[in-house]
Amino acid sequence: MSFVNVNLSENIAILEINRPEGLNALNTEVLSDLLEAISALHEEEDLRALIVTGAGEKSFVAGADIGEMSGLNSREAENFGHFGSSVFEALRQIPCPVIAAVNGYALGGGFELALACDIRLASTTARFAFPETGLGITPGFGGTQRLAKLCGTGVASELIFTGRRVKAEEALALGIVNKVVEPDQLIDEALEMAKAIADKAPIAVAKAKQAIYASEELSIEQGLDLEAAFFAHCFETQDQKRAMKAFLDKEEFHDFQNL
Ligand code: HXC
Repeated sequence: MSFVNVNLSENIAILEINRPEGLNALNTEVLSDLLEAISALHEEEDLRALIVTGAGEKSFVAGADIGEMSGLNSREAENFGHFGSSVFEALRQIPCPVIAAVNGYALGGGFELALACDIRLASTTARFAFPETGLGITPGFGGTQRLAKLCGTGVASELIFTGRRVKAEEALALGIVNKVVEPDQLIDEALEMAKAIADKAPIAVAKAKQAIYASEELSIEQGLDLEAAFFAHCFETQDQKRAMKAFLDKEEFHDFQNL
């Protein structure tokens, strides 16, 4: 039995962390299952969007498993941190867009999982926090890095130093989430966004994703060069030729082939 369910239908996958009795807390087994699922999704050549969510109504992911972490020595803790971070990085490197559908608690490692996705949708019940400093630790699955990059060091500092819990509407105002919806609308909204993405040219979307993340590493000159190279690459695709021809012929075009 796996702690991660994947449902793939028409180029869109929903990945669900499934350990609801522990509020989907991430232990080594859950992380291993997550890595296995992500590795399999990397092999899906025509995957166009991925939605990540948590099982049950209460929690997206309530963090790394405190029971498992409590007995770790420093070396084991470092390995655990590296392992979780590598799993989240594998998720971030999926070529297609990844949408987090945050359906409740996104605490510690759960907040970090949401941050490793490209876009976050939240239900009105979503709660975000980094409780780590109250447990005598720092975030360890990328939270200091990804929250600072997303919202700036001021927001990251306050939330990580204080552990304050942020409701969905405030998360929206802080730029942590893109949209807040009613709980029973969350998956439908995520699917609607996923379908809108899946309707676009997959090569162009994937290259745009790569360029957006590259902006975090590159100078503006380097970034513009990379963008120009990706733009040029699109002109080698059938999708570009067919979509532009359709526009000029005044035809609707939705038939992107990933070619
Ligand atoms: C282990 C957890 C857990 C966690 C919940 N559970 N969160 N087990 N690790 N992170 C378990 C509870 O022990 C309980 O199991 C069951 O899930 C239901 O939780 P309750 O506490 O009974 O529910 P409730 O009273 O509604 O409170 C919900 C909650 C609370 C506010 C989310 O569970 C909570 O504060 N959880 C811990 C959140 C946290 O601190 N997360 C950050 C961890 S540090 P039983 O068996 O009793 O029913 C982290 C570091 C990441 O994430 C980086 C690592 C390198």
